[in-house]
Amino acid sequence: MVVLVAGGSGQLGQSLQFIAPKYPEIQFHFLSSSELNIADKANCIAIFSDLKPDYCINAAAYTAVDKAESETEKAHLINVEGAKNLAETCKEFDTTLIHISTDFVFDGNKITPYTEEDLTNPTSVYGQTKLDGEKEIQVILEKYFIIRTSWLYSQFVNNFMKTMIRLGREKDSLSVVSDQIGTPTNAVDLAEVVVKIIEKTESLKGQTSDLESLYGVYHFSNEGQCSWYDFAKKIFEINGIEIDLKPIPTSSYPTPAKRPGYSVLDKNKIKKNFIIEINSWENSIARF
Ligand SMILES: NC(=O)c1ccc[n+]([C@@H]2O[C@H](COP(=O)([O-])OP(=O)(O)OC[C@H]3O[C@@H](n4cnc5c(N)ncnc54)[C@H](OP(=O)(O)O)[C@@H]3O)[C@@H](O)[C@H]2O)c1
Repeated sequence: MVVLVAGGSGQLGQSLQFIAPKYPEIQFHFLSSSELNIADKANCIAIFSDLKPDYCINAAAYTAVDKAESETEKAHLINVEGAKNLAETCKEFDTTLIHISTDFVFDGNKITPYTEEDLTNPTSVYGQTKLDGEKEIQVILEKYFIIRTSWLYSQFVNNFMKTMIRLGREKDSLSVVSDQIGTPTNAVDLAEVVVKIIEKTESLKGQTSDLESLYGVYHFSNEGQCSWYDFAKKIFEINGIEIDLKPIPTSSYPTPAKRPGYSVLDKNKIKKNFIIEINSWENSIARF
């Protein structure tokens, strides 16, 4: 089984590389943006012609949430055109696409976890481009999985967790936003779920109706919910870092992109369809 990973050197890409040795039956190809530029359709076709992947994991994205407000065209090119190029290429080569999306497709006005059926209403350019990318895929493909996730962190690349550990060692006090509620997700947990989806899809090959009902949009994050302040507090606790940590409202930490105030994802669909148990966000930090 051949699995192509676009965005292979990003956070999720490296998390997939980390777990890949556990799955010798899968021939992974991790391609960085210089090897596979998803915004370039000819490049996509050339790579697919060469590798003939059974599955393509799209871990490539424009992820600079605040910068996207001023780099709209670039965010659109990668998150919308790139997703469209991959979807069209997957269709041509009969490849199943596993595409990663975000909780930022929601406006955050709910007070209970977002299901896959809830209305989308992004509040940022990044969220809008990710939603538009999802829509392109849904128009072009039947064989796809779109997994919306939230607050990714890992031991790889820069992220909130690594920034907190660094700041915790440099500073005596820190203020962190306490009125945005979501769920941190260990990127390695997400990588494991992506492989589970591939395994289950493979096991159902030939059973067309079962497979058809499996494809679609899914939500995945770790279990539970917290604010960025709670997340930072836990990071400091686990790492034995003593610091004067203060909760502040979003209004005291203005950013170019407006983020959803509440973006907890309901994970019942992925748990039921793929028979998975999900780690709590606190336990997953400890694994980090
Ligand atoms: N990080 C989060 O908190 C978070 C939360 C929710 C959802 N997500 C979603 O999860 C997915 C993975 O995120 P991540 O945290 O792993 O992001 P990441 O670390 O920023 O990685 C994204 C990767 O995409 C690559 N890329 C950018 N433009 C490309 C292009 N034109 N062609 C091919 N590759 C390109 C980047 O390569 P270069 O570095 O070479 O440009 C980078 O390696 C994304 O879809 C993201 O939207 C992330």
